[in-house]
Amino acid sequence: MPPSPTTAVAAFRITKGFGSGAARTMALKGADFTAALGELQLIVGPSGCGKTTLLSIIAGTLVPDEGKVLVLGEELTQMSKGRVTDFRRRNIGFIFQQFNLIPTLTLVENASVPLLLNGVPRSKAERAANAMLEQVGLAGRGQNYPRQLSGGQQQRVAIARALVHDPRLVICDEPTSALDRETGHSVMGLLKEVARKADRSVIVVTHDPRVYDFADRIAEMEDGRVLTNQLASPETLHALHG
Ligand SMILES: Nc1ncnc2c1ncn2[C@@H]1O[C@H](COP(=O)(O)OP(=O)(O)OP(=O)(O)O)[C@@H](O)[C@H]1O
Ligand SMILES: [Mg+2]
Repeated sequence: MPPSPTTAVAAFRITKGFGSGAARTMALKGADFTAALGELQLIVGPSGCGKTTLLSIIAGTLVPDEGKVLVLGEELTQMSKGRVTDFRRRNIGFIFQQFNLIPTLTLVENASVPLLLNGVPRSKAERAANAMLEQVGLAGRGQNYPRQLSGGQQQRVAIARALVHDPRLVICDEPTSALDRETGHSVMGLLKEVARKADRSVIVVTHDPRVYDFADRIAEMEDGRVLTNQLASPETLHALHG
């Protein structure tokens, strides 16, 4: 079936292996995945089932061995490396499982990076970064360095950095893992607000049951494949909560 205009991501028969010979691991074994615009999509599944690998392929930071990936109507798997990088800078916000803040930059500088990469002048980028830091509850901390923050605060800087350039696709790997209940809730509220816009999409990998209720749709992965990808209904949520 061709992707419809409401499709944000469509990935077909994705395979990806790491290493060679006897040490080779197949992280993805023919995974199919779709995410819609205007939705917050969860990906759940056991550790090692391929969630981060799939996210990295959708974000264009990892190239699959086989399969086809369409993001916002463009076929990533047909683009040159340079075009993928450019496409990612403009359209994708990524929250990494390890927050990947740059230790030698202040928080406001860290959160400005996506705008600077898109050619926004520094003063304007830093104004926007400060406003985003305020939204994640870190007002006034812009001149601190990552090492001066707790894990949960660093995670919130990573979230500010992922949203600062107003990307159409936001990809989050365990965005609430280091957050307490209240902060986790407010971060998910922020992501949900993005996903409510008709031309945006948010994909969240999580092990955190507190996040399930924010989902519009839930994909379940196991052993390198996507088993189900269903609208979040009282039944699917109940099954997940066990
Ligand atoms: N760079 C790599 N080199 C070798 N093996 C890798 C690499 N990245 C991932 N793998 C392997 O691929 C499989 C899938 O890894 P992945 O990180 O996608 O899992 P995950 O579902 O995100 O797990 P978790 O919930 O623990 O984060 C695992 O067996 C992992 O060891
Ligand atoms: Mg992972």
